[in-house]
Amino acid sequence: MRALFALLAFISFNLAHAAPFDKGDAAKGKALADKQCQACHVSLFKGDGSGVYTRADRKVKTPGQLTARISGCNANTGAGWFPEDELHVAAYLNNTYYKFK
Ligand code: HEC
Repeated sequence: MRALFALLAFISFNLAHAAPFDKGDAAKGKALADKQCQACHVSLFKGDGSGVYTRADRKVKTPGQLTARISGCNANTGAGWFPEDELHVAAYLNNTYYKFK
C-alpha cells in the first residue's frame, strides 16, 4: 500500500511539474517551422518573422492556445504535419518565444 501511495505521489508530482511540450523535439520543430511557416511571417512582420510571436499584442497566451494555433495553421496551410510534428513545433516556439512553464 505504501508503495502504491509513493507511486501515485510520484506520478502526480511529475504531471504537475512537466513543462508543456517537453516531449517535443525543438530542433525538429524549428526545421519544420522554418520550412513551412516562416516565409509568410517574414513577409508580414519583417525581419526573421519572429515578430509574430513576440509582438506586444500577440494572440497566444496559454499553452492550449499555442497548440490550437499550430494545428489551425497546419490545417490552413496544408503543411501536412502529424500530431508529433505539431508537438515539435510547439516545443520550439515555446522554448524560444512563449516560455510557458
Ligand atoms: C499565409 C501566411 C501565414 C502562414 C503560411 C503561416 N502563418 Fe502563422 N500567422 C500569420 C498571421 C497573419 C498571423 C497573425 C494573425 C493574427 O494576428 O491574428 C499569424 C500568427 C501565428 C501565430 C500566433 C502568434 C501570436 O500572436 O502569438 C502562430 C503560433 C503561428 N502563426 C504559427 C504558424 C505556424 C506553425 C505556421 C506553419 C504551419 C504558420 N503560422 C504559417 C500568417 C501565416
